[in-house]
Amino acid sequence: MKRATHKGIVALQSRETSLVLDTSTPSPTVMHWGAFLGSDDLVALRAALELPVPHGGLDVVAPLSLTPEQGSGYLDSPGVEGHRPDGGGWAPRFVSSEVISTEQGARCISVDEHEQLELRSEFQMQESGVLRIRSALRNLGDIPYTVQALRITLPLPGRAVDTLTFAGRWTNEFQPHRQRLATGSLAVENRSGRTSHDRMPIAFVGTDAFSESCGEVWAVHFEWSGNSVISISSATDGRRSIQISELLFSGEIELAPGASYETPWVACAYSEAGTNGVSQAFHRELRADPSHPTAPRPVTLNIWEAVYFDHDLVRLKQLADRAAEIGVERYVVDDGWFHRRRNDRAGLGDWWVDATVWPDGLWPIVNHVTSLGMQFGLWFEPEMVNPDSDLYRHHPEWVLADPRYEPVLGRHQLVLDLANDDVRAYLFEKVDALLTEYPISYVKWDMNRALVHPSHLGRASVHAQTVALYSLLDAIRAAHPRVEIESCASGGGRIDFGILRRTERVWTSDCNDPLDRQRIQRGFSHVFPPEYMGAHIGPPKSHTTRRAHSLAFRAATAFFGHLGIEWNILDATPEEVGSLAAVIELHKRFRSLLHAGDGFRLDHPNAAVLAHAVVAQDRSEALVSMAMIDTPASLIVEPMRMRGLSDDLMYFVERLPLVAPFHGGARRQPHWLELGLQASGRMLRTVGIQPPTIDPESVLLLHLTAVSQNHASRG
Ligand code: GLA
Repeated sequence: MKRATHKGIVALQSRETSLVLDTSTPSPTVMHWGAFLGSDDLVALRAALELPVPHGGLDVVAPLSLTPEQGSGYLDSPGVEGHRPDGGGWAPRFVSSEVISTEQGARCISVDEHEQLELRSEFQMQESGVLRIRSALRNLGDIPYTVQALRITLPLPGRAVDTLTFAGRWTNEFQPHRQRLATGSLAVENRSGRTSHDRMPIAFVGTDAFSESCGEVWAVHFEWSGNSVISISSATDGRRSIQISELLFSGEIELAPGASYETPWVACAYSEAGTNGVSQAFHRELRADPSHPTAPRPVTLNIWEAVYFDHDLVRLKQLADRAAEIGVERYVVDDGWFHRRRNDRAGLGDWWVDATVWPDGLWPIVNHVTSLGMQFGLWFEPEMVNPDSDLYRHHPEWVLADPRYEPVLGRHQLVLDLANDDVRAYLFEKVDALLTEYPISYVKWDMNRALVHPSHLGRASVHAQTVALYSLLDAIRAAHPRVEIESCASGGGRIDFGILRRTERVWTSDCNDPLDRQRIQRGFSHVFPPEYMGAHIGPPKSHTTRRAHSLAFRAATAFFGHLGIEWNILDATPEEVGSLAAVIELHKRFRSLLHAGDGFRLDHPNAAVLAHAVVAQDRSEALVSMAMIDTPASLIVEPMRMRGLSDDLMYFVERLPLVAPFHGGARRQPHWLELGLQASGRMLRTVGIQPPTIDPESVLLLHLTAVSQNHASRG
């Protein structure tokens, strides 16, 4: 990160991006967030961007600052919304008071002396190219101040007209939505109390028809696992902006005298090279986080869809034997092992081993699994309680609800009030005891319902619940630093940087159907790197869609993520078992490339094709996946053009036979499919390579290796 300052101007720069702030305005104003500018133009920038004061408006043009002010004449959503009990303080106006350089960026402090409020804004330009921003509001007065919203506002240029956001649902997360923003605003609003399956706190805005590899893109992601709202607006005076804030319920945050409310971080990325550029910056950011896993991602077997609640030791041991035989490295006992958990109606909260099903504790299975050389993992859902549990019978008051009303159940369960210190202490003690007693290497931390009427001592409590969850996770991680944690919330209901800075994996979706997974995982990859992406090879017929797919398609789809199996492989044929072993072996060979390379989603003109690639950092090697997700509208599918290779290198391109043989359904396929092909990175980028005919719902995998310099290109 480079920093330059000049009389009321602060510039933070990474290799490709600049942020230039005018710190003389009431709260800092982003003059430029986008392409790299260098430091020569800072003064010119202010002069070049000075706004006219047109007829027909106010006599001032209010700055579109990080925290725009109603009282200064900004007529769209203000940065601060809140009030004192007497109604005062509803439109604060700040005066910039201090700019402090920090190790990674800058902190700006502004004060409203009349309303007795202090505003702090913090900017960090990361090595990854990601810009992180957060704000805090402090009550300097001697009566409470209620915060309704603290919005982080960033300007967007008028040419940023296309938006990409992610909606979805359980078992179909991360569905992309492209919309054009003309006037008014587009809001992504999540009130479910967790990151959600359907309102991801992610927004990409770009120039006309931006694609995976072309166009300018500005992207934001809110690092938060609670409620949020992201709003992209074209203001009444024509200026465009994007606002990111926590969605606070009425009265949720009341600041006592001296107290502060701090927003979660907003991670921002910009690229001139389409969505791939911003995705790579987000991926670099998580990869640089201290929590990023360093060990190769262990191939996992999760027993959930193999046995559900039917915990039979003999069968579980047989499953472990077969798993070890085919190269699995981590074996996870899912839901059903704890006190009276024979189905999903009882037991949550009673975190001790069920004595009827496991009379000798978990030792027989733990010992068996570890003696086979595999890690042992265990499922928990600590935030929840079933009314039918000892915990609820002893502590009905520990529920996150208003006791005067009948609470709404979700999957027969209620949510515990984590802001209650006793609840956190109980959960820590229970999880800690099991992690101490058994050699557990991995926790699958589930969370299977939305928060309804989340009330802590009568006050709305999603913010406090989320902060308390983070502190509970932090305490468990501090006590058990070698245990990895997976974030699961009925699949992909809690995937965001807030949780990912504390976990090593996510359960991307409860859907193991590879056809749906192709789209879900592509959506996921826009912000999150593949090594976090739990991706399991399911049974021949998906349990959530009841669609059947070949092992080749299932395996090639899971291959790029944190690979696992979720299938009763005791039912698999000897041929399938052999293929699984081969897939796992290949995955182990390639996982350092898959999980450290640069990911590229490839643009392809045919809507039936979904292609992506991983390219080694040094450009020496790449793996490409070309999935046919539908019957293509034409007999011939256009050449596939690569991204990320070096123009100056020659590559040998060959099919990676994950599960042989390859079924294509053509009278004759291009010869390169059998013989391989040598071509320059330049040619593969500009012209591409003609795909063979591929059956719908199948994948072609290619392996590219650099063989020599491309002499032609150097001349
Ligand atoms: C959730 C998870 C599943 C499984 C079940 C167990 O649905 O997403 O993977 O762990 O809970 O009840």
